[in-house]
Amino acid sequence: MRIVLLGAPGAGKGTQAKKLIEKFGIPQISTGDLLRAAVAEGTELGKEAKSYMDKGELVPDSVVLGMVEERLGRDDCKDGYILDGFPRNTAQAEALDEMLDKMGMPLDAALNVDVPTEDLMKRLTGRRTCEQCGQMYNVYFNPPAEEGKCDKCGGTLFQRDDDKEETITKRLEVYREQTEPLIDYYRQKGILKTVTGTGAIDEIFTRVVETLGAA
Ligand code: AP5
Repeated sequence: MRIVLLGAPGAGKGTQAKKLIEKFGIPQISTGDLLRAAVAEGTELGKEAKSYMDKGELVPDSVVLGMVEERLGRDDCKDGYILDGFPRNTAQAEALDEMLDKMGMPLDAALNVDVPTEDLMKRLTGRRTCEQCGQMYNVYFNPPAEEGKCDKCGGTLFQRDDDKEETITKRLEVYREQTEPLIDYYRQKGILKTVTGTGAIDEIFTRVVETLGAA
């Protein structure tokens, strides 16, 4: 299975990707996670990326494309991959097509997780993530049993720097302007699939698996 997950910030791409990894054993390639790891390591790339991420803007394509190409070239992608948060604009989508053609592993589907805008702000301001195992929670919708502590591993939960209301508003604007047009891009290529991203996480996952034809 070789797929791209499309959807607005907070649509649940990361949440569904984690479940796809468990079920199908293929890697998730999240450019957001790769960039946050570079920020945490304090690399030059991370410092450059942080200045864009904190404003809710896209990191330059030149930075992101090299990262994705390197990751897709690793052995664990041979049997499939889940691209999460990439591509983010038409230039990235075209570069990805070229890259995947060269590697001989073209996309099977682009799955759009569709959530109404009014749900997104609460999902993002309420998001908390475990710093140890990456498990995600939401203080409004799926809170941990004990505040600030991961149910799975006991790790400390943190809030992402870009999950502030002001930055979220900018991220949503950037999504509408630059990323949403990719829905048409993949529709024209005949590989677009859409799932409704509201309801319980497990219900959505059932829909995702059915929609991908992998039930
Ligand atoms: P990135 O990390 O990709 O963030 P994003 O696209 O804004 O997406 P999110 O991770 O915020 O949301 P999600 O859809 O994964 O939702 P989640 O599952 O977490 O990008 C961050 C930044 O990095 C960008 O702004 C940019 O600067 C840079 N960047 C990244 N990629 C780039 C690229 N390709 N090019 C250039 N720059 C790039 O869920 C959200 C919350 O909702 C969680 O709390 C979860 O528990 C909850 N939730 C999930 N499902 C449900 C449900 N069904 N009901 C209730 N709550 C739910």
